[in-house]
Amino acid sequence: MDRYEQVIELAKRRGFLWNSFELYGGTAGFYDYGPLGSTLKRRIEHIWRELYVIQEGFMEIECPTVGIEEIFVASGHVGGFSDPLCECKQCGEAFRADHLIKHIVEEADGLTDEELDRTIAQNNVKCPECGGDLGNAYDFNLMFKTQIGPGNGRKGYLRPETAQGMFVDFMRLARYYRDKLPFGATQIGKSYRNEISPRQGVIRLREFTQAEAEIFIDPRTKTHPNIQRFENTVLNLYSDASQDKGESEIMTVREAVDKGSIAHEFLAYQVALVNYFLQRVGIAPDKLRFRQHRKDEMAHYAIDCWDAEILTERFGWVEVVGIADRTDYDLSAHANMSKTELSVYIEYEQPRMMEKFVVKPNMGKMGPMFKGKAKVVAEALKALAQEALEKEEIKVLVDGEEITIPRDMVEFAQETIKVSGENIVPHVIEPSFGIDRILYSVMEHAYDEEIVPAKDTTDDTEDEARIVMRFMKEIAPIKVAVLPLMTKEELIEPAKQIAARLRDKGILVAYDDSGTIGRRYRRNDEIGTPYCVTIDYDTLEDNTVTIRDRDSMQQVRASVDTIDDVLYEMIYR
Ligand code: GAP
Repeated sequence: MDRYEQVIELAKRRGFLWNSFELYGGTAGFYDYGPLGSTLKRRIEHIWRELYVIQEGFMEIECPTVGIEEIFVASGHVGGFSDPLCECKQCGEAFRADHLIKHIVEEADGLTDEELDRTIAQNNVKCPECGGDLGNAYDFNLMFKTQIGPGNGRKGYLRPETAQGMFVDFMRLARYYRDKLPFGATQIGKSYRNEISPRQGVIRLREFTQAEAEIFIDPRTKTHPNIQRFENTVLNLYSDASQDKGESEIMTVREAVDKGSIAHEFLAYQVALVNYFLQRVGIAPDKLRFRQHRKDEMAHYAIDCWDAEILTERFGWVEVVGIADRTDYDLSAHANMSKTELSVYIEYEQPRMMEKFVVKPNMGKMGPMFKGKAKVVAEALKALAQEALEKEEIKVLVDGEEITIPRDMVEFAQETIKVSGENIVPHVIEPSFGIDRILYSVMEHAYDEEIVPAKDTTDDTEDEARIVMRFMKEIAPIKVAVLPLMTKEELIEPAKQIAARLRDKGILVAYDDSGTIGRRYRRNDEIGTPYCVTIDYDTLEDNTVTIRDRDSMQQVRASVDTIDDVLYEMIYR
């Protein structure tokens, strides 16, 4: 078994992850979170909320997971959110064409369908399932289509990212934040992608959880107000340039900004925050790097993008977070589609004097010519752009009718006016987290096997292997196991009382009285429970219990009177 199999075997057996629809044979790309997996996921999300919602102040919103067609036409997903698909002519199995030739061409994901076909033909690549011939590659859109309402109901799609909801709600959000940039919104929720034959377990899912922040900034601002928090943070950067050399660069956030490795402080701040979050939930720092996208692999909306990648044993470096500079791409696209201005009015610190081109319709001449319509025509004239007014023939549209205005009816002038601000379309910096991939990576990095030497003997055949999930205490699903040494009423009763007191403190406790104490310790090591409290016959004598530490297996005695406060401190300090 490789590490992936070991982790998944434990995850299934102990109630972290289960194949969805197992009763009916299952379908690739869907996983259920069992009792411990669900709890672990919530704990990871809780830390994410603590950082992004509470500390950064990016309030969370909740939008539908189904979106109407206009949203995804504007965002570019209907037009271009696809992967190249290749079907076997014999067995009908579908494959990602670029994955089929990955072992032949290093940069396979940048190739056109024609280039993919050529490479497949030249290298005589056959169907991996049955050895049959492969058909031509074509673009397969990854969005799940649906219909909203019966009959000829409206076309809809399951969202492929949570981000669009925050762009569509932009004007409401701007008002909520009183039009003051920067501001941000967050969302944690399900996204859907109809991935072509997902064969990588929890790494590539068709339904997965994203935690995304859309941070709206003034594009002219280059400095982040809190950058000093991370200035000395050391990052492992695998920039576009360093990829050519095949090695990462280790540098501080300050150096990365000063050297121009990361384009600006807002992006650098987010890279550092992602780095902090991933280590806080238990990702090993030496298995974490930030890889910059090359120009030809960048998503259609981004001008710069850094992926947080985590090293896993089976899949190598896996992208778990994308941190993108989306510019004004989305807001401008939705403004065009909805014919609504999506901008904020930014007041200048000091009003500025500006030269303005003004239009002065000659009402004395226009009145007799246009009669009752003269005022409307004059207003339409004022609304014209300067170029239209400088043309030989000035034309305006009034009530759907095009009217030509003689030039001598209009005068132009330059006037100096006082301007107090301007409308700005904010740019967006977006950290986009894949919670499922993070959860799997946390499990893989927490997984450990060790040999525990048997006590009171030098005979190593008595040694025992134990599996231990070395979760951070903060994210361990069960925090404390309360274990009466034996199933005797006089031990069970005080054990249950201690469990109840810990629950009152908000601590998730497992009470367990079945099996030998050694086996119960092993069960709790396997699910990463940081502390076991054992109630024994000494408890009845001196009112103390043992607290056993998961990692060191050391045991200390502590008073029953303060056990709830002591454990709370040990877990959350
Ligand atoms: N809003 C930007 C966006 O969605 P992305 O790089 O396509 O960017 C962000 O996705 C993150 O979502 C990825 O880094 C990954 O962790 C996760 N993700 C994407 N597709 C996934 C899939 N099929 N299964 C599991 N996680 C996925």
